[in-house]
Amino acid sequence: MTGTGNEQARKTAEGLGYLSGFGNEHSSEALPGALPVGRNSPQRAPLGLYAEQLSGSAFTEPRAHNHRSWLYRIRPSAAHPPFVRAERRTLRSAPFTDCVPDPNRLRWNPLPAPAGPVDFLDGLWTLGGNGDATRRTGMAVHLYHANSSMTGRVFSDADGELLIVPERGGLLVRTELGLLRAEPGHVALIPRGVRFRVELLDDTARGYVCENYGKPFQLPDLGPIGANGLANPRDFLAPVAAFEDIEGPFEVVNKFCGNLWTATYDHSPLDVVAWHGNHVPYVYDLHRFNVIGSISHDHPDPSIFTVLTSPSDTPGLAGVDFVVFAPRWLVGEDTFRPPYFHRNVMTEYMGLIEGAYDAKTSGPGGFVPGGGSLHNMMSAHGPDRETFDKASAAELRPQRIDDGLAFMFETRWPLTLTEQARDAEHLQTGYDDVWQGLQRHFRP
Ligand SMILES: [Fe+2]
Repeated sequence: MTGTGNEQARKTAEGLGYLSGFGNEHSSEALPGALPVGRNSPQRAPLGLYAEQLSGSAFTEPRAHNHRSWLYRIRPSAAHPPFVRAERRTLRSAPFTDCVPDPNRLRWNPLPAPAGPVDFLDGLWTLGGNGDATRRTGMAVHLYHANSSMTGRVFSDADGELLIVPERGGLLVRTELGLLRAEPGHVALIPRGVRFRVELLDDTARGYVCENYGKPFQLPDLGPIGANGLANPRDFLAPVAAFEDIEGPFEVVNKFCGNLWTATYDHSPLDVVAWHGNHVPYVYDLHRFNVIGSISHDHPDPSIFTVLTSPSDTPGLAGVDFVVFAPRWLVGEDTFRPPYFHRNVMTEYMGLIEGAYDAKTSGPGGFVPGGGSLHNMMSAHGPDRETFDKASAAELRPQRIDDGLAFMFETRWPLTLTEQARDAEHLQTGYDDVWQGLQRHFRP
């Protein structure tokens, strides 16, 4: 991607408008009169467009969980030649069976820079996951490191929705429903089956992706917190309709049951002129997260930091939660303020978007932006010695934590690595040493 290309993408990204609200029934038209009024599928759709429904849930799921959008497009998606298998490079999918599940605590440095030109799709590198994409259960953790924009092709994922967490470099995401801008500190969600193309706003782009095979992410219930707090619905921004009217070969890459398949359309599939519905992509700025915490004593369970949750069939048990550790005040009295020592039936993958994380200040390689740590089911973790000593002796004045933005994908099942993650050169050795030297203080 040339500097000129980046500048053009950035100019486009900075001028975008959005529709506000999580889970709303939005509607948008890029041309006046393109959206049918009062019906979804008129005998002849306006402006000579084709009407097409995109279902993200079964027709008969309860209204509160029903996801679908109606798209009004220049050509229907059905007009395409057969899909053929495509190389999947470093992208892998559940079920993950190549490695034995590992109970050890693991930590990685950032994904190395690609050797040649690599776009977002080719830059996806799977760390591991759980469940089964063909059963719509579980999740995968991917990282990406790209240095060029996707050109002449789009991607869609039939296996799940994609929660993209940029860590370095902004993204312009062109989707069927319109354009999104996702900078580091934002997250972008692409629903199951929605086609999109990622253009880079900077020379390189690096980050994390949670591929959620399960139920779509929703906002967590707030219980006694009340009607407001955590991630507020109006801060989730969906795109306005925008379309490409481009004839000529366009590659559509589809992830289906773990493999990539490709077909060449004779036009751009981002040709939706108008749409309405709630199966929509969106962006959310993590800095808008309203952090709720303890104002008396004890560190709250990190579930208090949940941005989005993918519920399972068991109440309160998430397939995967997306949790953010955002700037906040610590004011707990007679409290060990960093995250406590912990063994958890859930599995925790943590990443760092910027700065530092308050429980991990030491160790070889450290916990750095773009890196990640995995604490699998029931593995013991918690603060390192330095953090423990400092926090145990600290004068408990109000303290602002504002030097970092960390996140967690927390999932109900153990996470099994891919071979490339197990054997990666950027897998740190000696992560266990973080917990060495925790002194015996017992005084019976
Ligand atoms: Fe934990």
